[in-house]
Amino acid sequence: MPGENLQRDQDSLLRRVWGSVFKGPIVPVDDRQRRRTVLDFLILHIHPPTVPVSTIRYTHTWGLGGMSLVLFLVLALTGILLMFVYRPVPMEAYSSILTLQREVMFGSFVRSIHHWSANFLIIVALLHLLRVYFTGGFHRERQFNWIIGLSLLLLVVLANFTGYLLAWDQLAYWATTIMTSMLAYIPVAGLWLQRTIRGGTGIGAATLTNFFTLHTTIFPVLFVIFMPWHFWRVRKAGGVVLPRQEGEAPSDKPDRANTIPSLVTKELAVALVLLAFVLVFSVLFHAPLDQMANPGMSPNPARAPWYFMGIQELLLHFHPLFAVLFIPITAVLFLVSIPYLKYGDDPGVWFISEKGRRMAVVSATVAFVVTPALVLLDEFFIDLPALMPGLPTEISNGLIPYLLVLGGLTGYYLLLKNKYEASKAEAVQSVFVFLFVSFVVLTIVGVWFRGEGMKLVWPL
Ligand code: HEM
Repeated sequence: MPGENLQRDQDSLLRRVWGSVFKGPIVPVDDRQRRRTVLDFLILHIHPPTVPVSTIRYTHTWGLGGMSLVLFLVLALTGILLMFVYRPVPMEAYSSILTLQREVMFGSFVRSIHHWSANFLIIVALLHLLRVYFTGGFHRERQFNWIIGLSLLLLVVLANFTGYLLAWDQLAYWATTIMTSMLAYIPVAGLWLQRTIRGGTGIGAATLTNFFTLHTTIFPVLFVIFMPWHFWRVRKAGGVVLPRQEGEAPSDKPDRANTIPSLVTKELAVALVLLAFVLVFSVLFHAPLDQMANPGMSPNPARAPWYFMGIQELLLHFHPLFAVLFIPITAVLFLVSIPYLKYGDDPGVWFISEKGRRMAVVSATVAFVVTPALVLLDEFFIDLPALMPGLPTEISNGLIPYLLVLGGLTGYYLLLKNKYEASKAEAVQSVFVFLFVSFVVLTIVGVWFRGEGMKLVWPL
């Protein structure tokens, strides 16, 4: 009988592979066992059969990489559902969202899940970056995976930004106007880039088509390429970095546990708690929707999305050429170079050492005080172009403050190395913490402390 032959073939294939994984005896399998084996088989495509016990502690990775994956899957699923109702043309986009919210069963709920998951993904991916950085998970065989991770982070931000316009409300329309008008400051290619992204001179039907295509086709395809590549590199590096205590030698033969069930049950627990959180959050808080886009009436202040508010804040203090081009490029170069600087430390110890941890706390505190102080100083007390009236503003309000900040950071690095005898890794880590906290503070100032005309206000 053909059916019996097929079943015999499947059994023999599964038993052969299963046997080769565990080297155990080959025993007959029933239907339930077979389904279980197929599932295990799928899991073992992603994970190795055993993993070091120390790496599956919740407090080692905090499950943040896995959470990013879960959020991506939620976004893909809810995004597909949204596409059944959404119409990507200016005259219908906004009303299709209203129809979704008012007439489609669970429409508003699905939109809220999609909206909040997208925002959480930015936060979770950033926290994952911090976890990888502070446990030194970017050395040697993991160097290039850091770059793939940065590309994923860029994709996450761009996917968020292109999705933002699709609701075609005032918030989205003007945020896109602001962000794309920043591109005009880039010399030579800026205007061309702006027109290409907008599909013309202003934000209109062509912009919506561009953003819709990027959001629903190009970026998802790139995710589907980059994510498995990222996971494969983790596996190729022998799994995530092994945790160590300071002074403890890296272990060659750590104790291992079976992936199924030890790792998989923990991953499942993290995924379920995260899903529960996203669902409850989406029930309690609806995704925002402003009035329909009105190209003739700009809100005051017109704001970028929250994850770009740090850059919008920089625009208030630096010449646009520096706020939009040179400072972001310097930050990206710093992030890309992190794994390639020669440190000579073994990875796996949180914050490199106890001294590194203390320096990180001090750097975070210094950034938390110095950044708002500089914002206030520039806002109320110092007007660099007025102090140097003969100079073009690119220099007085661009190059000079940029060099002052770079000089300050170099001085801070040298102070830690020479006076406090920090290792190179500890000093670089301190600068990293300083920059990260500064960017977070600028984002907070932009989101909560800017009012009409982008003047500083007290949020309450
Ligand atoms: C959509 C975004 C991302 C997803 C889905 C993702 C997923 C993962 C997963 C599942 C792991 C293994 C488990 C864990 O560490 O939690 C991992 C490890 C890693 N990720 Fe990501 N990641 C993302 C973004 C990033 C970013 C932004 C970076 C840093 C720039 C990064 C760099 C790394 C590195 C270097 C490892 C290996 C770390 C180690 O061996 O300890 N990833 N990622």
